[in-house]
Amino acid sequence: MSVKKISETQPESFKFSSENIIDAENEIKKYPKTRKASAVLALLYLVQKQNQNWIPLAAIKYVSKLLEMPYIKVYEVVTFYSMFNLSPVGKYFVQICTTTPCMIRGAKDIVDICKIHISENPNQLSNNKLCSWTEVECLGACVNSPMMQINQDYFEDLNKSSTEEIISQLLKDEFPKPGSLKNRKNNAPEKGKTTLLENKNA
Ligand code: FES
Repeated sequence: MSVKKISETQPESFKFSSENIIDAENEIKKYPKTRKASAVLALLYLVQKQNQNWIPLAAIKYVSKLLEMPYIKVYEVVTFYSMFNLSPVGKYFVQICTTTPCMIRGAKDIVDICKIHISENPNQLSNNKLCSWTEVECLGACVNSPMMQINQDYFEDLNKSSTEEIISQLLKDEFPKPGSLKNRKNNAPEKGKTTLLENKNA
């Protein structure tokens, strides 16, 4: 797992757009007035959505004021969860699962392809600034390993050539079709059902 990098360039201030402040207020209303802090994950998600997928320090201050929480507590949440970024990521943010099932099925090859084609180091933008990559822990799609998440979508059953094709499309500012690269249906066996054959709905 790579260590989170804090951006050296930070905006001086942050505030929610008029649309997001309504969403934030609705999230806060879900909890008792003395438990506003319970909305912290939802608000940080909104920050990231508004700010090209990363959270500046000014936004941590902003959220801590909105939720009447100490700054350090919001900071702790941001640094704990791998889905929150503290520095700019590309328009296409590639997260490669390198936990054991993916690793024994070729995740290292995928990391190597990202190093060659996107950037030498994790959390570093590609030359055209469109992509960045990082390693993450299990994303819950182990059956279709190796896999990676790009923005909100999963790409599964990868191999070297399919990964190279996906990365080359991203670098051309094209978003590839997500899902299994072996055309597997959901998590079904690659060669079709082998059990419960008599049950059509199984
Ligand atoms: S180990 Fe990679 S998705 Fe679970």
